[in-house]
Amino acid sequence: MCGIIGIVLSSSKALSKNLGRVIRECLKNLEYRGYDSVGFAIVSSEGLIIRKSKGKIDEVVSKLSFDEFDGIYGVGHTRWATHGRPSDVNAHPQTDCSGKVAVVHNGIIENYMELRDALISRGHEFRSETDTEVIAHLIEEYKRLGMSSYDAFKKAVTHLRGSYAVAVIDVDDPGKIFFARNTSPLVIGISREAKFLSSDIPAFLDYSRDVIVLNDDELGYISKDAIVIEKLVDKDLRLEFDRVPPKTEFIDYRLRVRHIDWTPEMAKKGGYPHFMLKEIHEQPRAVADTLISISKELDNIVKLLSKADRVLLIGSGTSYHAALVGSLLLNELAYVKSHALISSEVRWFINSIDDDDVVIAISQSGETIDTLLAVRDVRGKGALTIALTNVIDSTLARESHLSIYTRAGPEIGVAATKTYVAQVATLSYLAISLGGYMGTLDSNKASELKSELSLIPEVMSTTISTCEPRARVISGVIGTKHSMYYLGRGLGLPTSMEGALKLKEIAYIHAEAYPAGESKHGPIALVDEGFPVAFTVLGDEAELIVSNVEEMKARGAWTLAVVPKGFEKSVKLFDYIFELRRISYELAPIVYIIPYQLLAYYTAVTLGYDPDKPRNLAKTVTVV
Ligand code: G6P
Repeated sequence: MCGIIGIVLSSSKALSKNLGRVIRECLKNLEYRGYDSVGFAIVSSEGLIIRKSKGKIDEVVSKLSFDEFDGIYGVGHTRWATHGRPSDVNAHPQTDCSGKVAVVHNGIIENYMELRDALISRGHEFRSETDTEVIAHLIEEYKRLGMSSYDAFKKAVTHLRGSYAVAVIDVDDPGKIFFARNTSPLVIGISREAKFLSSDIPAFLDYSRDVIVLNDDELGYISKDAIVIEKLVDKDLRLEFDRVPPKTEFIDYRLRVRHIDWTPEMAKKGGYPHFMLKEIHEQPRAVADTLISISKELDNIVKLLSKADRVLLIGSGTSYHAALVGSLLLNELAYVKSHALISSEVRWFINSIDDDDVVIAISQSGETIDTLLAVRDVRGKGALTIALTNVIDSTLARESHLSIYTRAGPEIGVAATKTYVAQVATLSYLAISLGGYMGTLDSNKASELKSELSLIPEVMSTTISTCEPRARVISGVIGTKHSMYYLGRGLGLPTSMEGALKLKEIAYIHAEAYPAGESKHGPIALVDEGFPVAFTVLGDEAELIVSNVEEMKARGAWTLAVVPKGFEKSVKLFDYIFELRRISYELAPIVYIIPYQLLAYYTAVTLGYDPDKPRNLAKTVTVV
């Protein structure tokens, strides 16, 4: 995830500030979208000026003296690295060979390798490792073939597969900023003094509250006097380098302008009251972006894992729960000896670890000291280490032999949500691929699971919208309780553990997860009239859970369940249910955690707590 901004002033005096300063202010408002490198391109009377560098916004703006640059129009970018590590050269804007075209981009161009190869064979020289750079060279190539700048831009966009919000300056067509959007967000802001393009409304909220939210496959440009929006009618992914402009339909932008009355604080959260709720809603995108990018990266890792004697997955907090899901799936689908360990407990297993082991270290931040220390220990014993993290170039990534990156974008809420589902989706993909590779999973079944996985983001969206109203209602009941159990079997257990962790982290209600079958061996002693027990039912294990529910009900428990649609005994067994679409048991952990996240969130809110900043907790814990 990155933040992009584009600004065209109506006159050189507009906004009464240097353009560099306005770009800086807007980028600061987008910092939550990424903060590993920053850059801008401004067109002034002296021509195109580009400044960019690795580092956080505050460091980079003073180093590059953003505020001193003035001009009439320009673009800016704050980066969250996906392709290519954070570095000066990988920072945006990215340019073509001539240095006339400057591109800022948010998203992932899936087919960039293919485009890059085609452009290299036509003489283009690439400087960065980014997927973005192909856009600048594609435009340049079509201009070389004789197309106008704008047609060349439109033509370039038709070749892009994946997600993108782009803003482009081409000095050969002065005064305009071209834009295009597919999947990644992009909005236009309008005021008397300037027009804005941005990944999100808060970027320009100090200057404009009249906005146009762009839709997928829309492109166009803003200039001092115009806003042009067109919709691509057909996308031609073939790279034949002909000069036929793409077919588009013009859109009357005036019908799309709407006035918003958000405060800047509300706007940073995209209109949501808290980051946690925003991030819960971002989960489908987090999983979709992660799946797009890992599908190309994991082949090598699958081969390495197939040779391992044992695969250990380690993590802390929520990341440990992802490790549990991963180890169960590796055992079940790939018949691999695999165990999950809590990072801070790894030292007690160290004597049995050797160079036949592979250790997957999971940490959204990549900075948790417990996980880093464990990685150092197991490396010392010769194990191969693979980081699974959301932060490119984090300490964990640098200290591990190999890295896999989730693409959830920055997570601000302390309680992990979107990074967890991205971790679980990655591990699910890995286990399915390994099972297919080792032949323990029938190749048809492997393909079926992979196709189903690609549809999971859609299922997640529906699940969020159907569960949210119910979670609000049930939170009223949970908010009156002091303690709660979450029970499940198999993959339902880590899902229960994560549900319980969320409730205690942000609603401060004691919550404990147990294997459902084990609940009669002790925990049941606490159960009396009205004691809340949540059951996680993912699919095939449903019948095994029935007797555990009956045992609890016989002691007066108040029962809640997350169940797949069509589980006939639900009505009889449970006081409240979240009914979810039935999906394969192996993939259910990615979706079935959603009601628990929403339940914890609404319970915290009902009780008057701030879910984004739970007491005593930190997002990244760097002490042992
Ligand atoms: C802290 C946070 C937890 C998080 C854990 C691991 O304890 O409060 O929410 O799950 O760290 O974080 P990591 O960045 O390693 O995934």
